[in-house]
Amino acid sequence: MKKYIIKGGNRLSGEVSISGAKNAVLPILAATVISGKSSLISNIPRLKDVEVMVAILKSLGAEVDWGIDGILVNSSTINSVSLPEELVREMRSSIILMGALLARFGEAKLSYPGGCEIGPRPIDLHLKSLRQMGVVIEEAHGYLHCKAAELNGADIQLDYPSVGATENIMLAAATAKGTTVIRNAAREPEIIDLQDYLNKAGGKIKGAGTSIITIEGVKTLYECSHNIIPDRIVAGTFMVAAAITQGEVVLKNLVVEHLQSIIAKLRETGTYIESDGNLIRVVGVQNISSIEMLQTLPYPGFPTDMQAQFMALLSIAKGTSIINETVFENRFKHGEELARMGAHIKTFGKVAVIKGVNELTGAKVYARDLRGGAALVLAGLAAKGSTEVGNIHHIERGYDGFHTTLHRLGADIQLV
Ligand code: UD1
Repeated sequence: MKKYIIKGGNRLSGEVSISGAKNAVLPILAATVISGKSSLISNIPRLKDVEVMVAILKSLGAEVDWGIDGILVNSSTINSVSLPEELVREMRSSIILMGALLARFGEAKLSYPGGCEIGPRPIDLHLKSLRQMGVVIEEAHGYLHCKAAELNGADIQLDYPSVGATENIMLAAATAKGTTVIRNAAREPEIIDLQDYLNKAGGKIKGAGTSIITIEGVKTLYECSHNIIPDRIVAGTFMVAAAITQGEVVLKNLVVEHLQSIIAKLRETGTYIESDGNLIRVVGVQNISSIEMLQTLPYPGFPTDMQAQFMALLSIAKGTSIINETVFENRFKHGEELARMGAHIKTFGKVAVIKGVNELTGAKVYARDLRGGAALVLAGLAAKGSTEVGNIHHIERGYDGFHTTLHRLGADIQLV
């Protein structure tokens, strides 16, 4: 089992160039299924989740070539509509292929994606919306069989602005008959990136980034190439890494607008941040201030995918902070691990109260999920002594060369 060993106390300094966004790559790779032609997707991060998506596309019959220019998918050779169970289990977001396969073949078969480390993750909104578009869905023995003689545009009111459901509907609607309107759509930047890809391929979609997305179905999609947006969560994680180590780090190749909620909350901790174009400089301070209330929300609110990293930072703030996790249930497991390092954290359902301590101490801890794992690494960078972070396969799902970048910035971190 691989693990990170971190000797805390080094201030990070230097520059980091931000890689492409995992949560944009995955739905766009799924979208390449629709055209039945070639798509070249560039600015791809080397991540386990992307490898899983590539494996799924290959298992469906697509020709996939991951080279230095990006990933070239030729989906003309796809000859299956069944998603392999073990891969669906490995990556829950593979359900995004449901909308894409329905658009292309009018059929998709998959095992029901179970819960995951961050609590139950239902797909009722996906299924309800697809049914509105004319999809008949049979659920039996843990399997989903989705079939549509014809996909029709629909007026869909989402009960919650789910990212995955919004994407699945966009994919299913791209070549459906008629126009689909999604109200209360998710507004995440990754949704805009999906719209951009689909429109380059000949789709007629507008409104991504707002709460109302309109998709006019087209007959077919074409060959195209697309460059993925930078990963705002990776950027946010390195921003916290600079803050927690009182370091000074310059982040390049990012979209500052996507980071506004993270910047605002980091400034509340006293961290100095300046931005210029597509660059951000973060300078950590000795006395980190607590945050009265950090509430996770759908974009443009504060992202749930940055909650764990902020919990690590707030563990050594002066004073008491409150985190209210409103997006996912059961997303505080990293709190128990941080407590092993000396953090004072109490959780009550979706609320965590963090009483800042003077310092964290190195300990043996385990990543329980992707972002929670990254938070433990950040805590280790600031802790006194040596921290061992186990189960790092979770972290590798979302960070491309995490420890090598941190090492380059001056961290004492080893992969063993
Ligand atoms: C995506 C991101 C994930 C991020 C999350 C929220 C990808 C691959 N993953 O996940 O990193 O943490 O957005 O920003 O892009 N829900 C339902 N029924 C549904 C769908 C969702 O109740 O049918 C609930 C979920 O349980 C959760 C909330 O809605 O409580 C948000 O989920 P959603 O926005 O769908 O997240 P994902 O698309 O799974």
